Amino acid sequence: MTLPEASRFPFTADLSICRILNGMWQVSGAHGAIDPGRAVAAMDAYHDAGFTTWDLADHYGPAEDLIGNFRRRFAARHGAERLGEIQAFTKWVPHPGAMTRRVIEDAIEVSLRHMGVDRLDLLQFHWWDYRDQRYLDALRHLADLQTDGKIRHLALTNFDTERLAVITGHGIPIVSNQVQYSLVDRRPAAKMAAFCAEHGITLLTYGTLLGGLLSEKYLGRPEPGRAELTTASLQKYKQMIDAWGGWALFQELLASLKLVADKHGVRIANVGVRYVLDRPAVAGVIVGARLGVSQHIADNARTFDFALDADDLAALDPTLAKSRDLMRLIGDCGDEYR
Ligand SMILES: NC(=O)c1ccc[n+]([C@@H]2O[C@H](COP(=O)([O-])OP(=O)(O)OC[C@H]3O[C@@H](n4cnc5c(N)ncnc54)[C@H](OP(=O)(O)O)[C@@H]3O)[C@@H](O)[C@H]2O)c1
Repeated sequence: MTLPEASRFPFTADLSICRILNGMWQVSGAHGAIDPGRAVAAMDAYHDAGFTTWDLADHYGPAEDLIGNFRRRFAARHGAERLGEIQAFTKWVPHPGAMTRRVIEDAIEVSLRHMGVDRLDLLQFHWWDYRDQRYLDALRHLADLQTDGKIRHLALTNFDTERLAVITGHGIPIVSNQVQYSLVDRRPAAKMAAFCAEHGITLLTYGTLLGGLLSEKYLGRPEPGRAELTTASLQKYKQMIDAWGGWALFQELLASLKLVADKHGVRIANVGVRYVLDRPAVAGVIVGARLGVSQHIADNARTFDFALDADDLAALDPTLAKSRDLMRLIGDCGDEYR
């Protein structure tokens, strides 16, 4: 299987990505045990199918090491000259504290070493507390490391529109912001997407499949209790569904999605991902991969085989109109972390 050309996106002038990125929070241990050998073997299958772009973080358990192992295997299989076919986007989520050049340099060195690269393709920066303005110090040092060739591109995760404006106003070159975006959590459409589109910044999205809740598996199912929510991801997005409108309304959404999916001969997950891929400023959707445990490669590939039309979107509107306004309830992108 190879993905069509439409699966690719010119993320930057020098980086083409797959519009469905493989999310590696699922190897952190909070989504079931992962066997490192099986996980790396599974990574070959994703890459070979055309899913060449990985989203990871310094704190996702062994994720950076898995990238390192995968790259070594890949070089042995195909030759080191083809390593450029892999895109690996990591994050740095620092503990609050002084953001000196030394602190930043040490953190980046750790990621470079684990991933087995001389330069990070993308470094996505997270910050917990906006009252602590040292996030600007950190970003200035990161920009210097970019100039030094340690980081190819600089990005953010979970920043709100207001701070994104502050950061770009300081002349710090940001290429993307990673935020939660799904049919349930549509907050990026309120302010973030327009700001990004205006400033040449793109969005990478997570939570688009609600940890797997947005699928046939949960259609017609009674509300799952805590014991059934067996991954950190399922727990996180069940809470989001509760805030958004609850299980009964979610069932109504799944039923509408099923009709749309059937019309196109695809699955509910395909419609959910396609919907977000088609939104302004969205470069890619990150879909979590429990490497070596479960995989949906063939299913997710179908996302690139169909288009949603105006009737499809109109069919979803009545349900979406009944949901609560999460901008008002939670705040802008990332405010749930603060
Ligand atoms: N920046 C941040 O703060 C942040 C936060 C959360 C996540 N993320 C990123 O986003 C990634 C995705 O994580 P997420 O929590 O948002 O999870 P998600 O992508 O919404 O859900 C992943 C789960 O969906 C199921 N799935 C995948 N494809 C499917 C398909 N075609 N049909 C049915 N089910 C399907 C799988 O469940 P099974 O394994 O059970 O089959 C998979 O484990 C993470 O790995 C991470 O890279 C970032």
